[in-house]
Amino acid sequence: MSDQPHPQDRTRVLIPAERIQARIVELAREIRADLGDGPLTCIGVLKGSFIFMADLVRALDGPVRCEFLGVSSYHGGTRSTGVVRITEDLSHPIEGHHCLLVEDIVDTGLTLDYLRHFLEGRKPASVHTVCLLDKPGRREVEVAPDYVGFTIPDEFVVGYGLDLGEFYRNLPYIAVYSP
Ligand code: PRP
Repeated sequence: MSDQPHPQDRTRVLIPAERIQARIVELAREIRADLGDGPLTCIGVLKGSFIFMADLVRALDGPVRCEFLGVSSYHGGTRSTGVVRITEDLSHPIEGHHCLLVEDIVDTGLTLDYLRHFLEGRKPASVHTVCLLDKPGRREVEVAPDYVGFTIPDEFVVGYGLDLGEFYRNLPYIAVYSP
């Protein structure tokens, strides 16, 4: 991948910033309505979820802990191997905690499936999952996030944390990238 920024004119807005923010407020309300107003440990998956996590935790009422997991995914080859490696572990035990795994996008589902089992192995009180974007058309394993911001078609999206060659994460909206 080139080390140069890609031209912005290859992107078109798919989900504007205001729609993202409005949906996050709805998601936060829904999550609190379902899970109650007790302590919630939000676990962001790096790097893609860092912006969604920051906005979601600010929209959530009540006590919230913030944790992050660094993950090195199987991407890179032409076929996915399904192997996910933890590169940065949680900073505290989550035993007995109500946890919310925060993902930017669920594509094949391999990462979410792996991380849900990984977290369950730490004996939390519960694990729920939220993703901002869901691409059900690309699933390789049957996983369904508990909360979904937007269901999107199988197009390459960037922005709001999602990258192309590490660029575009800073866009405040979700855009489709056309090469
Ligand atoms: C993306 C995204 C998810 C994963 C989803 O991460 O943040 O973690 O891919 O894909 P899947 O459903 O096919 O497993 P990516 O590997 O692009 O790394 P990044 O978050 O650091 O950008």
